[in-house]
Amino acid sequence: MANRIITTDIIPEEDRNEQGLRPLSLNEYIGQERVKNNLRIFIEAAKSRGESLDHVLLYGPPGLGKTTLAGIVAQEMGVNIKVTSGPAIEKPGELAAILNNLSENDVLFIDEIHRLNKQVEEVLYPAMEDFAIDIVIGKGQGARSIRLDLPKFTLIGATTRAGMLTAPLRDRFGVVNRLEFYNLVELMQIILRSASVLNVKIDDEGALEIAKRSRGTPRLANRLLKRVRDFAQVENKGMIDYEVAKTALDRLEVDSAGLDETDRNILETMINKFDGGPVGLDTLAAAIGEDPGTIEEVYEPFLIKNGFINRTPRGRVVTDNCYRHLGLNAFINDN
Ligand SMILES: Nc1ncnc2c1ncn2[C@@H]1O[C@H](COP(=O)(O)OP(=O)(O)O)[C@@H](O)[C@H]1O
Ligand SMILES: [Mg+2]
Repeated sequence: MANRIITTDIIPEEDRNEQGLRPLSLNEYIGQERVKNNLRIFIEAAKSRGESLDHVLLYGPPGLGKTTLAGIVAQEMGVNIKVTSGPAIEKPGELAAILNNLSENDVLFIDEIHRLNKQVEEVLYPAMEDFAIDIVIGKGQGARSIRLDLPKFTLIGATTRAGMLTAPLRDRFGVVNRLEFYNLVELMQIILRSASVLNVKIDDEGALEIAKRSRGTPRLANRLLKRVRDFAQVENKGMIDYEVAKTALDRLEVDSAGLDETDRNILETMINKFDGGPVGLDTLAAAIGEDPGTIEEVYEPFLIKNGFINRTPRGRVVTDNCYRHLGLNAFINDN
C-alpha cells in the first residue's frame, strides 16, 4: 500500500503542490455540473439576502474535489474559511473555541467529519441549528448551563463515508451533495489545465492517455501528469504525447484501465484460487494478505464501479469484463 502510485489519498510531498493546482472559482472547477448548479443557486440566494449559506455536506471517494470545492464556496461567498478535520478536534471546548472565533458568514470546513467524536459532535447540533453553544459552568449542585450566541456561519462537512454519519448530524445539513467520478473528457480538461499551470507541453492524445488511467479521479490525474512530465523531460524534450504517456505509465505499472499490481492481484486471486467467486471478503483478504476494511474501502469501489467485480449476497464475483481485460493484458504481455 505504502508506495501505491494510484492511491487517491494525499501523499505528504504532494500536499503543498496540490494547492497550486486547485481551481479557485466555480467556473474553473471542471465537471460535477449538478453540484455546481446547485451551489450557484444557493450562493446567489444567500448573497442577495445578505445571509450565510446553508450548511453543506460534500461526500464521495477521496481525490474528487471536496476540499477544493469548500474553498471555492468560501471564495464565491466572499468570506473567510477556517479548515479543520474530524480527528483534529479532540474536545468539545476546542470546537467551541473555533466556532467562537469565526466572523459573521464565515465558512468552517470540517474534513472527515464522520470521525468527530460524540461529545464534540453534540456541540455542533445547537451550533448548526441555532448558532449557539451551551456551556456548563460550575459542578454538581451549582452547575448551570448558559447559552452563548455564535456568529452565523456555514459549516461545510466533507466525508468519504456518508454512511457513517449519525442521523442528527446529517439532518442538519441543508445542502447535501455527492461528488461523482469524472468522465474522460472532464479528466482531459483537468489534465490540460494542470499542464498549463505547471507549464508543461502536452497534446490531446497525451492528455487522453493519462485520463484513461486516472480512475476517474483528479488527484490521480494530476499525480500521473507529474510523473509523466518527469519522464518527458528526460526522454522527449519535455513534450507529453501519446507515446511518452503510454511508455511512462506502463513503466509505472498503471494499466490501460488504471489498474495497478494490487488490483490485478485481487482479480487474479479471485480467478485462480476461487474460480472467479463468489468469495467472501474475509477469505479474499486472507488469501492476498490484506486487511478486509482496506479492500472494501480502498480497492473495491473502483473495481465495482468499473465493472470488474460484482457484489452478490454470497460474496464477490469477477465479471466477464474482468476476464476480457485480464485476458487482453495476458495476450499483450505474451507477445
Ligand atoms: N473539478 C475539478 N477541477 C479541477 N481540478 C480538480 C477538480 N477536483 C479536484 N481537482 C484537483 O484534484 C486535487 C484533489 O482535490 P481535493 O479537493 O483535495 O479532493 P478531496 O478533498 O475530495 O479528496 C486538487 O489538487 C485539485 O487540483
Ligand atoms: Mg480533501
